Amino acid sequence: MSIKFCNNRFVIETKNTSYVIVLREANFLGTDETVTAVCQGYWGEKLLNPEEIPDDYYCFGGNCGYLERGLNAQEYPAYGGKYFENECLKVKLQDGVRDLRLSYKSHKISEAKDLLTITLKDIYYPFEVDLNYKIYEGLDLIDRNTTIRNLAEDKVLLETMYSASWICPYDKDLTLTYMSSAWAEEYNVIKQPLNQSAVLLESRAGVSNATAYPYFAIDKNATEDSGKVWFGALQYCGNWQIKAGRDRNGLPQIVGGISDFNTTYSLDGGEEFTTPVFTGGFVNNGFGESKRQFHEYIRKNSKSVWTDKVMPVLYNAWATFAFDLDEEMLMAQAERASKIGVEMFLIDDGWFKDRNDEKTGLGDWEVDKNKFPNGLTPVINKVNELGMIFGLWIEPEMVSEESELYKAHPDWILRYPTRQPVKKRFQYVLNMGREDVYEFTVNWIDKLLSENNIGYLKWDMNRYLSEVNWSFETNSADDEVYIKYVRNIYRILDHINEKFPDVLIENCASGGLRADLSMAKWCARINRSDNQDCIDALKLHEGYTFVNLTKAAGGGCHLHHPGTVSLTKRKETMKRMAYTAMMGSFSVGYDLRKLSEEETEKLAQYIKLHKQLRETVQLGDMYLLRSVYDSNTPAVIYQFVSKDKEKSVVFVYNNNKGFLGWLDAIKLKGLKADKKYKITLKGVEDKEIDFPEISGDTLMKMGLSFKIERMLSEDSVYGCFAVILE
Ligand code: DGJ
Repeated sequence: MSIKFCNNRFVIETKNTSYVIVLREANFLGTDETVTAVCQGYWGEKLLNPEEIPDDYYCFGGNCGYLERGLNAQEYPAYGGKYFENECLKVKLQDGVRDLRLSYKSHKISEAKDLLTITLKDIYYPFEVDLNYKIYEGLDLIDRNTTIRNLAEDKVLLETMYSASWICPYDKDLTLTYMSSAWAEEYNVIKQPLNQSAVLLESRAGVSNATAYPYFAIDKNATEDSGKVWFGALQYCGNWQIKAGRDRNGLPQIVGGISDFNTTYSLDGGEEFTTPVFTGGFVNNGFGESKRQFHEYIRKNSKSVWTDKVMPVLYNAWATFAFDLDEEMLMAQAERASKIGVEMFLIDDGWFKDRNDEKTGLGDWEVDKNKFPNGLTPVINKVNELGMIFGLWIEPEMVSEESELYKAHPDWILRYPTRQPVKKRFQYVLNMGREDVYEFTVNWIDKLLSENNIGYLKWDMNRYLSEVNWSFETNSADDEVYIKYVRNIYRILDHINEKFPDVLIENCASGGLRADLSMAKWCARINRSDNQDCIDALKLHEGYTFVNLTKAAGGGCHLHHPGTVSLTKRKETMKRMAYTAMMGSFSVGYDLRKLSEEETEKLAQYIKLHKQLRETVQLGDMYLLRSVYDSNTPAVIYQFVSKDKEKSVVFVYNNNKGFLGWLDAIKLKGLKADKKYKITLKGVEDKEIDFPEISGDTLMKMGLSFKIERMLSEDSVYGCFAVILE
């Protein structure tokens, strides 16, 4: 891993890749204005001789159209001159000029050779941009963002302020992969040809995963295990945009960052603005490796102590009881939960004053004395005495009309005074961008965590941002609200993490509507979706793990009474729900008083099995062996391999297609070729079946073969089993 500057070029070398940035002189046609343009020269497999990359490679041939040749493939194209491609930066300068001409000024490389800053400056105006690059030992990812500086005395207005432009090598046939999203249908993987008209991926709802997930990948015939993939994830939990297309020459270009939808940012003289990190990578061995790159990235960069630990088994009564809570019922659940092996006990929505349904209470974060006459302490003590971590649900960004907070501060919500404020789930959004709202929020959360032994905090967010106006008194659409809002969310998460480092924070937004990479820095548990249907969960999980760690996959209640929270109302089996939960952060939502002795024992056995496997699953490497999107396979198959390759677990799930005949051999991945693995099959008619020992070499080359129809005869729709290798 290194970054160096020689022969007018920067060479960024990660473990297996080279990223070359060239400096070249370019002239604005018809003028005598020249700039030293900072352009991408190469991004792909590691080069032995990066000095051989010509500095005008992307200018050869092709139809440069209106654009000056030297300005092709810029690292950070600004709008100015005849730049009609997708720019990263558009600025209205202090005198009204909307035209930037950026030229290389200087650069800095850190002593550890892992950070590069290239400074560009406008050729006339006192305006600068730092392009920042950061790389990591052992990874093939580059973090990019920018710092934009107004060195003049007067204000400038940033109208577009993206984080980066990524250029992939020219190829006629390339595929764009992205993920569309909606409530209960998050991370829907879509593939389509990459064309000249860019595809706009974005969120306008104030949360990152409302309509699409901030991710892209470009490949040519890549599979899970082979082929070149260029990919990236934007780290931003608010409104964002990614435009993926080709420039006039057909060169693939992906730009992205904070959305310019209803958003500008003004910089006073001497002020600067730093854009969110856009992490990009290249792999030449398929999508699976691109996912593992992000998983390792999260492990390296997370601030949560929980990222490197196995996830405690959770009990959450939300699925069964919703707002209908009381001390006695929860105590009874806690007793039973601890007996079957649950390690963490959460009180979800409904614990605070007057919160008997969705209509009231948000904002008044005091315990409801009717439900908890002695406060939360008796339940917390009980949960702790039983050896479990206590967790609590909060929704800090919201306020109910029926609340003391709203009565006291009607001016704190996002609204226009001349419009009736729109409600969703009967609630309004607090303007978290305001300093007084931030102070209020950070203080009550701090107090809550200081006064109660809370080890797990579920932070929920259940409506989109609308009527984004700054002031209650005047219609003053402030174009910075979205940005200030997100900034304060990060500040609060930072505060919680720094002051209460042991608290496990869950990121939840009506399920997974804010599950972007930025949140993984603080939140080791991320609600995958409110869709808890265990068949749908496999589709959700595939998209979720493009970026997120498998172990972070939360949810109120992976195991629930059939038909209660699975939105499809399917009558799922406990076994299938349990085996699906084992890939994520296992959570139970039954009324444990209603389970028969036999069911209780079965549940305890699934939890025991999960605990036996979770270190390998949660702290190891993930391989997707059969995709839910593959119409040729009757099963979805995931494999997890421990870091030392001594252990592995394979989960096989019928994908609702029937199980006639054989499942073609499952070729395993990532094993030690020369190790003989002991194999046990779990889950087939709830028997344990041992196989003769087989070497990793045979398992990876020939694979495992099963006659599925026999093995899953007990339940052909929900059939599933685990293969355990040690
Ligand atoms: C939405 C979340 O996704 C659920 O898990 C649950 O916490 C409810 N909100 C509570 O209102």
